[in-house]
Amino acid sequence: MLPSFLRVVALFFTFGFPQIQAQTYYGPQDPRIKTELALNVPCNGVSTTPDGRLFAVFARVDGSTGPQVVEVYRENNTFQAYPNAEWNTFEEGDDPKRHYIGVNGQRIGPDGNLWVIDKGAPALGAPIIFPGGPKLVVVDLTTDKVKRVYDMSNATRSNSLLDDVRFSAGMGKAYLTDAGSPGLIVLDLDSGQIVRLLDDDPSTKIGLPVSAEGTLLKLGDEPAYIYADQLEVSPNGKWFYFQSASGGMNRIETQWLDNAFYNASLNSNAVLGGFVQPYAHTPSTGGTAIDAEGNIYNSDTDSQRIIKIFPNGTMTTLVQDPRLLWVDAMWIDGDNKLWMPAAQLNRGTPFNNGESRIVKPLYVYSIDIGVGPSPIDHD
Ligand SMILES: *[C@@H]1O[C@H](CO)[C@@H](O)[C@H](O)[C@H]1NC(C)=O
Ligand SMILES: *[C@@H]1O[C@H](CO)[C@@H](O)[C@H](O)[C@H]1NC(C)=O
Ligand SMILES: *[C@@H]1O[C@H](CO)[C@@H](O)[C@H](O)[C@H]1NC(C)=O
Ligand SMILES: *[C@@H]1O[C@H](CO)[C@@H](O)[C@H](O)[C@H]1NC(C)=O
Repeated sequence: MLPSFLRVVALFFTFGFPQIQAQTYYGPQDPRIKTELALNVPCNGVSTTPDGRLFAVFARVDGSTGPQVVEVYRENNTFQAYPNAEWNTFEEGDDPKRHYIGVNGQRIGPDGNLWVIDKGAPALGAPIIFPGGPKLVVVDLTTDKVKRVYDMSNATRSNSLLDDVRFSAGMGKAYLTDAGSPGLIVLDLDSGQIVRLLDDDPSTKIGLPVSAEGTLLKLGDEPAYIYADQLEVSPNGKWFYFQSASGGMNRIETQWLDNAFYNASLNSNAVLGGFVQPYAHTPSTGGTAIDAEGNIYNSDTDSQRIIKIFPNGTMTTLVQDPRLLWVDAMWIDGDNKLWMPAAQLNRGTPFNNGESRIVKPLYVYSIDIGVGPSPIDHD
């Protein structure tokens, strides 16, 4: 367990004192940035396979409708609902376990399958459909068929926002963040059993709303709090990194999460929270990615930059460019490229009383980082 003074630091760190809001960046464009995709809808995540397939998730925060998870064909600039149109349509009376309701993320796992995170509500703030809405859908990319659906209903609540997923080394467990009802969820991938951890703990809950382009976000008239959101696992499987979207990254050894899954007396905030360490003073963040050397890339939603966090927790700016408007979930491919979907989420309907201020077309950019993905994250 951490000495108590460190715990105090962690508390200070996560609740935070009022931070100085960073400013919008109006500087020059950086020529190292390449355009990968030009889109008519906001994209909040991509993933690629070693043989060149490309998948994307569309956030639909511009008021558009249509598929949420697609395969993108770059050769003719088209895309197709993935794995099919049926999964991408949900109508009243449909089985919520067999259709995407509201996809928050997708990623190809170290097993080569596409993992789709469904928050189970058709829009941010809309009621979650229980049971069966909140789920993890595993699609086999060789057959293009859904292989397994993990029902997350038992570990989610009416105010949950199932956010994203990462895996333990060896893929025994999956870790998920709940950005609505602050906490972590550990899922045993074999049995499908799920346990919530660090529920409402200072490490998963933060006192400030998210900020972008220098302005605090609002959902309706209320400040927009987005709790435990970004997460990464170190390439050696030892560390689990996590943070609220408003920043302040913590870490905990995965062994404690894994043990707390089985051991209820470890699963209390008083005990488990003691193993949480402050890691890096990150700003309001759209998304992250981790490379083979354990560096974490973190997108600063206020200042249009990507921060690189070394494994010792020191931060440096990798790139800053006015085009990097709310870069959401990032992705590192086998060609050492960091993909940066500039989703402009803060300009979307949920944060602007139903109106979209998104400027089209939207772009997915990339930059060469000279290193590939973490092998326990994906190929
Ligand atoms: C685009 O290319 C894909 C893959 O080659 C193909 O399946 C699809 O039919 C093409 N779409 C159009 C509109 O040409
Ligand atoms: C959810 O809880 C119900 C009732 O306790 C139980 O029957 C079911 O197996 C649980 N499902 C999961 C995935 O844990
Ligand atoms: C469960 O966790 C408690 C608290 O950390 C610890 O004292 C106990 O030894 C653990 N039990 C097992 C079986 O690991
Ligand atoms: C952290 O690591 C980076 C990269 O290796 C190095 O440049 C930096 O000096 C280190 N910072 C500290 C405080 O040791």
